[in-house]
Amino acid sequence: MATATPQHRAAEARADGTAELGDAAFQAVFDAAVAADERIEPRDWMPDAYRATLVRQIAQHAHSEIIGMQPEANWITRAPSLRRKAILMAKVQDEAGHGLYLYSAAETLGTGRDELLDKLHSGRQKYSSIFNYPTLTWADVGAIGWLVDGAAITNQVPLCRCSYGPYARAMVRVCKEESFHQRQGYELLLALSRGTEAQHAMAQDAVDRWWWPSLMMFGPPDDESAHSAQSMEWKIKRHSNDELRRRFVDICVPQAESLGLTLPDPELRWNEERGQHDFGPIDWSEFKAVLKGNGPCNEQRITQRRRAHDEGAWVREAAAAHAAKHSPATREGRAV
Ligand code: 3HC
Repeated sequence: MATATPQHRAAEARADGTAELGDAAFQAVFDAAVAADERIEPRDWMPDAYRATLVRQIAQHAHSEIIGMQPEANWITRAPSLRRKAILMAKVQDEAGHGLYLYSAAETLGTGRDELLDKLHSGRQKYSSIFNYPTLTWADVGAIGWLVDGAAITNQVPLCRCSYGPYARAMVRVCKEESFHQRQGYELLLALSRGTEAQHAMAQDAVDRWWWPSLMMFGPPDDESAHSAQSMEWKIKRHSNDELRRRFVDICVPQAESLGLTLPDPELRWNEERGQHDFGPIDWSEFKAVLKGNGPCNEQRITQRRRAHDEGAWVREAAAAHAAKHSPATREGRAV
Protein backbone atom coordinates (compact mmCIF):
# COMPACT_ATOMS: atom_id res chain seq x y z
CA MET A 1 0.00 0.00 0.00
CA ALA A 2 1.29 3.47 -0.88
CA THR A 3 2.50 5.50 2.10
CA ALA A 4 0.28 8.50 2.79
CA THR A 5 2.06 11.83 2.43
CA PRO A 6 1.93 14.36 5.30
CA GLN A 7 -0.47 16.29 3.08
CA HIS A 8 -2.75 13.31 2.69
CA ARG A 9 -2.66 12.54 6.44
CA ALA A 10 -3.62 16.15 7.15
CA ALA A 11 -6.57 15.91 4.74
CA GLU A 12 -7.73 12.66 6.35
CA ALA A 13 -7.46 14.17 9.84
CA ARG A 14 -9.73 17.00 8.76
CA ALA A 15 -12.20 14.64 7.08
CA ASP A 16 -12.29 12.34 10.18
CA GLY A 17 -12.83 15.28 12.47
CA THR A 18 -9.74 14.16 14.42
CA ALA A 19 -8.18 17.53 13.73
CA GLU A 20 -9.68 20.93 13.13
CA LEU A 21 -7.59 22.19 10.24
CA GLY A 22 -8.16 25.40 8.35
CA ASP A 23 -6.56 26.43 5.07
CA ALA A 24 -3.66 28.08 6.92
CA ALA A 25 -2.73 24.70 8.41
CA PHE A 26 -2.94 23.08 4.98
CA GLN A 27 -0.79 25.84 3.52
CA ALA A 28 1.79 25.15 6.24
CA VAL A 29 1.81 21.42 5.45
CA PHE A 30 2.13 22.21 1.72
CA ASP A 31 4.99 24.69 2.31
CA ALA A 32 6.81 22.19 4.50
CA ALA A 33 6.42 19.46 1.87
CA VAL A 34 7.85 21.73 -0.85
CA ALA A 35 10.70 22.86 1.41
CA ALA A 36 11.57 19.22 2.21
CA ASP A 37 11.59 18.35 -1.52
CA GLU A 38 8.64 16.01 -1.09
CA ARG A 39 6.31 15.45 -4.01
CA ILE A 40 2.85 17.00 -4.08
CA GLU A 41 0.37 14.37 -5.28
CA PRO A 42 -3.07 14.82 -6.90
CA ARG A 43 -5.10 14.22 -3.72
CA ASP A 44 -2.96 16.54 -1.61
CA TRP A 45 -4.15 20.01 -0.72
CA MET A 46 -2.46 22.66 -2.86
CA PRO A 47 -2.94 26.41 -3.27
CA ASP A 48 -5.25 27.34 -6.14
CA ALA A 49 -2.49 29.40 -7.76
CA TYR A 50 -0.08 26.42 -7.67
CA ARG A 51 -2.69 24.27 -9.40
CA ALA A 52 -3.41 26.98 -12.00
CA THR A 53 0.30 27.48 -12.74
CA LEU A 54 0.81 23.76 -13.25
CA VAL A 55 -2.20 23.48 -15.54
CA ARG A 56 -0.93 26.46 -17.57
CA GLN A 57 2.59 25.09 -17.94
CA ILE A 58 1.65 21.44 -18.47
CA ALA A 59 -1.01 22.42 -21.03
CA GLN A 60 1.43 24.59 -22.96
CA HIS A 61 3.93 21.76 -22.84
CA ALA A 62 1.37 19.18 -24.05
CA HIS A 63 0.22 21.46 -26.88
CA SER A 64 3.86 21.95 -27.93
CA GLU A 65 4.35 18.20 -28.19
CA ILE A 66 1.40 17.64 -30.50
CA ILE A 67 1.86 20.79 -32.61
CA GLY A 68 5.55 19.84 -32.82
CA MET A 69 4.57 16.75 -34.81
CA GLN A 70 3.67 18.91 -37.81
CA PRO A 71 7.00 20.40 -38.95
CA GLU A 72 8.69 17.00 -38.89
CA ALA A 73 5.79 14.99 -40.30
CA ASN A 74 6.22 17.29 -43.32
CA TRP A 75 9.32 15.25 -44.24
CA ILE A 76 8.16 11.66 -43.60
CA THR A 77 7.18 11.08 -47.23
CA ARG A 78 10.46 12.58 -48.47
CA ALA A 79 12.96 10.98 -46.08
CA PRO A 80 15.98 9.94 -48.17
CA SER A 81 16.05 6.26 -47.08
CA LEU A 82 13.86 3.63 -45.45
CA ARG A 83 16.02 3.83 -42.30
CA ARG A 84 15.58 7.60 -42.04
CA LYS A 85 11.85 7.28 -42.67
CA ALA A 86 11.42 4.63 -39.94
CA ILE A 87 13.37 6.77 -37.46
CA LEU A 88 11.36 9.89 -38.28
CA MET A 89 8.03 8.08 -38.01
CA ALA A 90 9.01 6.69 -34.61
CA LYS A 91 10.05 10.15 -33.45
CA VAL A 92 6.81 11.81 -34.54
CA GLN A 93 4.84 9.05 -32.80
CA ASP A 94 6.90 9.63 -29.64
CA GLU A 95 5.81 13.29 -29.67
CA ALA A 96 2.16 12.20 -29.77
CA GLY A 97 2.87 9.95 -26.78
CA HIS A 98 4.48 12.84 -24.88
CA GLY A 99 1.33 14.87 -25.50
CA LEU A 100 -0.75 12.04 -24.02
CA TYR A 101 1.36 11.72 -20.86
CA LEU A 102 1.15 15.46 -20.35
CA TYR A 103 -2.60 15.79 -20.94
CA SER A 104 -3.00 12.93 -18.45
CA ALA A 105 -0.82 14.80 -15.93
CA ALA A 106 -3.08 17.85 -16.38
CA GLU A 107 -6.14 15.64 -15.84
CA THR A 108 -4.82 14.73 -12.37
CA LEU A 109 -5.24 18.43 -11.55
CA GLY A 110 -8.91 18.31 -12.51
CA THR A 111 -8.64 19.77 -16.01
CA GLY A 112 -9.89 17.63 -18.87
CA ARG A 113 -8.20 17.21 -22.22
CA ASP A 114 -11.25 18.53 -24.13
CA GLU A 115 -11.10 21.78 -22.23
CA LEU A 116 -7.37 22.20 -22.88
CA LEU A 117 -7.67 21.38 -26.58
CA ASP A 118 -10.51 23.85 -26.86
CA LYS A 119 -8.26 26.53 -25.36
CA LEU A 120 -5.47 25.66 -27.80
CA HIS A 121 -7.78 25.74 -30.80
CA SER A 122 -9.31 29.07 -29.79
CA GLY A 123 -5.89 30.67 -29.13
CA ARG A 124 -6.43 30.98 -25.35
CA GLN A 125 -3.44 28.78 -24.56
CA LYS A 126 0.02 28.88 -26.09
CA TYR A 127 2.39 26.31 -27.53
CA SER A 128 6.13 26.70 -27.98
CA SER A 129 7.23 29.49 -30.31
CA ILE A 130 9.69 27.14 -32.02
CA PHE A 131 7.03 25.25 -33.93
CA ASN A 132 5.98 28.32 -35.90
CA TYR A 133 9.03 28.06 -38.14
CA PRO A 134 9.00 26.11 -41.42
CA THR A 135 11.03 22.97 -42.25
CA LEU A 136 12.40 23.96 -45.64
CA THR A 137 14.91 21.17 -46.29
CA TRP A 138 15.73 17.66 -45.07
CA ALA A 139 18.55 19.15 -42.95
CA ASP A 140 15.88 20.91 -40.87
CA VAL A 141 14.89 17.49 -39.48
CA GLY A 142 18.46 17.15 -38.21
CA ALA A 143 18.57 20.71 -36.86
CA ILE A 144 15.29 20.16 -34.99
CA GLY A 145 16.64 16.96 -33.44
CA TRP A 146 19.97 18.45 -32.43
CA LEU A 147 18.88 21.93 -31.37
CA VAL A 148 15.15 21.84 -30.59
CA ASP A 149 15.15 18.47 -28.84
CA GLY A 150 18.48 19.39 -27.26
CA ALA A 151 16.93 22.58 -25.86
CA ALA A 152 13.89 20.59 -24.72
CA ILE A 153 16.12 18.15 -22.78
CA THR A 154 18.06 20.99 -21.16
CA ASN A 155 14.78 22.49 -20.01
CA GLN A 156 13.06 19.24 -19.07
CA VAL A 157 15.70 17.24 -17.18
CA PRO A 158 15.28 19.61 -14.19
CA LEU A 159 11.50 19.14 -14.52
CA CYS A 160 12.03 15.48 -13.51
CA ARG A 161 12.51 17.02 -10.03
CA CYS A 162 9.40 19.21 -10.27
CA SER A 163 7.45 19.33 -7.00
CA TYR A 164 4.29 17.96 -8.63
CA GLY A 165 4.57 14.14 -8.77
CA PRO A 166 2.66 13.23 -11.96
CA TYR A 167 4.44 15.92 -14.03
CA ALA A 168 7.87 14.95 -12.68
CA ARG A 169 7.27 11.26 -13.39
CA ALA A 170 6.02 11.94 -16.94
CA MET A 171 9.21 13.92 -17.56
CA VAL A 172 11.47 10.95 -16.76
CA ARG A 173 10.21 8.97 -19.72
CA VAL A 174 9.89 12.02 -21.98
CA CYS A 175 13.53 12.93 -21.36
CA LYS A 176 14.75 9.43 -22.22
CA GLU A 177 12.93 9.64 -25.54
CA GLU A 178 14.05 13.21 -26.21
CA SER A 179 17.60 12.05 -25.70
CA PHE A 180 17.20 9.56 -28.57
CA HIS A 181 15.65 12.33 -30.67
CA GLN A 182 18.58 14.62 -30.01
CA ARG A 183 21.10 11.96 -31.00
CA GLN A 184 19.33 11.06 -34.23
CA GLY A 185 19.33 14.76 -35.18
CA TYR A 186 23.02 15.05 -34.42
CA GLU A 187 23.82 11.92 -36.41
CA LEU A 188 21.74 13.14 -39.36
CA LEU A 189 23.52 16.50 -39.40
CA LEU A 190 26.91 14.81 -39.07
CA ALA A 191 26.17 12.68 -42.16
CA LEU A 192 25.21 15.81 -44.12
CA SER A 193 28.11 17.84 -42.82
CA ARG A 194 30.57 15.14 -43.94
CA GLY A 195 28.75 14.63 -47.25
CA THR A 196 29.01 16.61 -50.47
CA GLU A 197 29.57 20.35 -50.53
CA ALA A 198 25.87 20.90 -51.21
CA GLN A 199 24.87 18.66 -48.29
CA HIS A 200 27.25 20.49 -45.96
CA ALA A 201 25.79 23.83 -47.10
CA MET A 202 22.26 22.53 -46.48
CA ALA A 203 23.18 21.49 -42.92
CA GLN A 204 24.80 24.88 -42.25
CA ASP A 205 21.78 26.73 -43.62
CA ALA A 206 19.43 24.76 -41.33
CA VAL A 207 21.58 25.50 -38.27
CA ASP A 208 21.69 29.18 -39.25
CA ARG A 209 17.87 29.31 -39.30
CA TRP A 210 17.15 27.22 -36.17
CA TRP A 211 19.82 28.54 -33.77
CA TRP A 212 18.20 31.77 -32.59
CA PRO A 213 14.62 30.40 -32.39
CA SER A 214 16.04 27.52 -30.27
CA LEU A 215 17.47 30.02 -27.79
CA MET A 216 14.04 31.67 -27.62
CA MET A 217 12.44 28.37 -26.56
CA PHE A 218 13.71 28.97 -23.02
CA GLY A 219 11.32 31.89 -22.67
CA PRO A 220 11.80 35.63 -22.09
CA PRO A 221 14.83 36.96 -20.20
CA ASP A 222 14.59 36.54 -16.43
CA ASP A 223 13.74 40.18 -15.76
CA GLU A 224 10.71 39.84 -18.09
CA SER A 225 9.61 36.36 -17.02
CA ALA A 226 6.24 36.77 -15.32
CA HIS A 227 6.09 33.35 -13.69
CA SER A 228 9.68 32.27 -12.98
CA ALA A 229 10.11 33.62 -9.45
CA GLN A 230 6.93 32.04 -8.08
CA SER A 231 7.40 28.79 -10.04
CA MET A 232 10.92 28.45 -8.65
CA GLU A 233 9.68 29.09 -5.12
CA TRP A 234 7.18 26.28 -5.59
CA LYS A 235 9.96 24.12 -7.13
CA ILE A 236 7.96 23.64 -10.31
CA LYS A 237 10.88 25.22 -12.16
CA ARG A 238 14.35 24.53 -10.73
CA HIS A 239 16.30 27.02 -12.86
CA SER A 240 15.55 30.33 -14.49
CA ASN A 241 15.06 30.81 -18.24
CA ASP A 242 18.42 32.57 -18.68
CA GLU A 243 20.28 29.99 -16.62
CA LEU A 244 19.03 27.14 -18.82
CA ARG A 245 19.63 29.12 -22.01
CA ARG A 246 23.28 29.68 -21.02
CA ARG A 247 23.67 26.00 -20.13
CA PHE A 248 22.34 25.06 -23.58
CA VAL A 249 24.78 27.38 -25.37
CA ASP A 250 27.68 25.84 -23.45
CA ILE A 251 26.54 22.34 -24.46
CA CYS A 252 26.12 23.26 -28.14
CA VAL A 253 29.42 25.03 -28.81
CA PRO A 254 31.71 21.93 -28.66
CA GLN A 255 29.06 19.83 -30.42
CA ALA A 256 28.94 22.33 -33.32
CA GLU A 257 32.73 22.06 -33.59
CA SER A 258 32.54 18.26 -33.78
CA LEU A 259 29.85 18.58 -36.42
CA GLY A 260 32.05 20.90 -38.47
CA LEU A 261 29.28 23.52 -38.46
CA THR A 262 29.30 27.14 -37.32
CA LEU A 263 26.82 28.69 -34.90
CA PRO A 264 25.55 31.94 -36.48
CA ASP A 265 26.70 34.32 -33.77
CA PRO A 266 29.86 36.43 -34.27
CA GLU A 267 29.78 37.43 -30.58
CA LEU A 268 29.91 33.85 -29.28
CA ARG A 269 33.06 33.35 -27.22
CA TRP A 270 34.28 31.74 -24.02
CA ASN A 271 34.28 34.00 -20.97
CA GLU A 272 37.09 32.76 -18.74
CA GLU A 273 35.93 34.79 -15.77
CA ARG A 274 32.34 33.47 -15.80
CA GLY A 275 33.30 30.00 -16.96
CA GLN A 276 30.57 30.20 -19.62
CA HIS A 277 30.11 31.42 -23.17
CA ASP A 278 29.03 34.96 -23.93
CA PHE A 279 26.63 35.25 -26.83
CA GLY A 280 25.06 38.00 -28.94
CA PRO A 281 21.71 39.69 -28.29
CA ILE A 282 18.52 37.76 -28.97
CA ASP A 283 15.92 39.49 -31.13
CA TRP A 284 13.10 39.56 -28.60
CA SER A 285 10.86 41.50 -30.99
CA GLU A 286 10.78 38.38 -33.19
CA PHE A 287 9.85 36.23 -30.16
CA LYS A 288 7.02 38.59 -29.21
CA ALA A 289 5.72 38.66 -32.78
CA VAL A 290 5.65 34.84 -32.91
CA LEU A 291 3.80 34.69 -29.57
CA LYS A 292 1.23 37.17 -30.89
CA GLY A 293 0.50 34.80 -33.77
CA ASN A 294 2.63 36.53 -36.40
CA GLY A 295 5.36 33.91 -36.91
CA PRO A 296 5.92 32.36 -40.34
CA CYS A 297 3.67 29.33 -39.70
CA ASN A 298 1.28 30.20 -36.81
CA GLU A 299 -1.79 30.24 -39.02
CA GLN A 300 -0.85 27.03 -40.82
CA ARG A 301 -0.11 25.13 -37.59
CA ILE A 302 -3.36 25.97 -35.84
CA THR A 303 -5.49 25.43 -38.96
CA GLN A 304 -3.94 22.00 -39.44
CA ARG A 305 -4.45 21.16 -35.73
CA ARG A 306 -8.13 22.13 -35.84
CA ARG A 307 -8.61 20.09 -39.00
CA ALA A 308 -6.92 17.02 -37.47
CA HIS A 309 -9.16 17.39 -34.40
CA ASP A 310 -12.35 17.65 -36.48
CA GLU A 311 -11.39 14.77 -38.74
CA GLY A 312 -10.57 12.63 -35.70
CA ALA A 313 -14.01 13.10 -34.10
CA TRP A 314 -15.21 9.68 -35.29
CA VAL A 315 -12.19 7.99 -33.67
CA ARG A 316 -12.93 9.61 -30.31
CA GLU A 317 -16.60 8.65 -30.58
CA ALA A 318 -15.73 5.05 -31.49
CA ALA A 319 -13.23 4.81 -28.61
CA ALA A 320 -15.79 6.19 -26.14
CA ALA A 321 -18.46 3.75 -27.41
CA HIS A 322 -15.99 0.85 -27.10
CA ALA A 323 -15.00 1.88 -23.56
CA ALA A 324 -18.67 2.19 -22.53
CA LYS A 325 -19.46 -1.25 -23.99
CA HIS A 326 -16.66 -2.85 -22.00
CA SER A 327 -17.11 -0.91 -18.76
CA PRO A 328 -17.85 -3.04 -15.64
CA ALA A 329 -21.25 -1.31 -15.23
CA THR A 330 -22.33 -2.34 -18.75
CA ARG A 331 -21.03 -5.87 -18.24
CA GLU A 332 -22.95 -6.21 -14.96
CA GLY A 333 -26.12 -4.88 -16.61
CA ARG A 334 -25.72 -7.45 -19.34
CA ALA A 335 -25.25 -10.29 -16.81
CA VAL A 336 -28.48 -9.32 -15.03
N1 3HC B 1 6.91 29.82 -26.62
C1 3HC B 1 5.67 30.24 -26.34
N2 3HC B 1 5.35 30.86 -25.17
C2 3HC B 1 6.34 31.04 -24.28
C3 3HC B 1 7.65 30.62 -24.50
C4 3HC B 1 7.93 29.98 -25.74
N3 3HC B 1 9.15 29.57 -26.08
N4 3HC B 1 8.40 30.93 -23.43
C5 3HC B 1 7.59 31.56 -22.55
N5 3HC B 1 6.35 31.63 -23.08
C6 3HC B 1 5.19 32.27 -22.49
C7 3HC B 1 4.79 31.67 -21.15
O1 3HC B 1 3.94 30.56 -21.34
C8 3HC B 1 4.09 32.84 -20.50
O2 3HC B 1 2.82 33.02 -21.11
P1 3HC B 1 1.42 32.90 -20.27
O3 3HC B 1 1.57 33.77 -19.06
O4 3HC B 1 0.38 33.36 -21.22
O5 3HC B 1 1.30 31.46 -19.93
C9 3HC B 1 4.92 34.01 -20.95
O6 3HC B 1 5.55 33.61 -22.16
C10 3HC B 1 5.94 34.46 -19.92
O7 3HC B 1 6.98 33.50 -19.77
P2 3HC B 1 7.51 32.95 -18.37
O8 3HC B 1 8.98 32.82 -18.45
O9 3HC B 1 6.97 33.77 -17.27
O10 3HC B 1 6.78 31.53 -18.37
P3 3HC B 1 7.19 30.19 -17.61
O11 3HC B 1 7.69 30.49 -16.23
O12 3HC B 1 6.06 29.25 -17.74
O13 3HC B 1 8.46 29.64 -18.44
C11 3HC B 1 8.90 27.87 -20.00
C12 3HC B 1 8.33 29.28 -19.80
C13 3HC B 1 10.38 27.87 -19.73
C14 3HC B 1 8.64 27.47 -21.46
C15 3HC B 1 8.18 26.91 -19.01
O14 3HC B 1 6.80 27.03 -19.13
C16 3HC B 1 8.55 25.48 -19.17
O15 3HC B 1 9.60 25.05 -18.74
N6 3HC B 1 7.63 24.68 -19.77
C17 3HC B 1 7.78 23.24 -19.90
C18 3HC B 1 8.53 22.88 -21.13
C19 3HC B 1 7.80 23.24 -22.40
O16 3HC B 1 6.70 23.69 -22.45
N7 3HC B 1 8.49 22.98 -23.51
C20 3HC B 1 7.95 23.18 -24.79
C21 3HC B 1 9.08 23.00 -25.71
S1 3HC B 1 8.75 21.97 -27.00
C22 3HC B 1 8.87 20.37 -26.56
O17 3HC B 1 9.14 20.07 -25.45
C23 3HC B 1 8.61 19.36 -27.62
C24 3HC B 1 9.80 18.56 -27.96
O18 3HC B 1 9.44 17.53 -28.77
C25 3HC B 1 10.87 19.35 -28.65
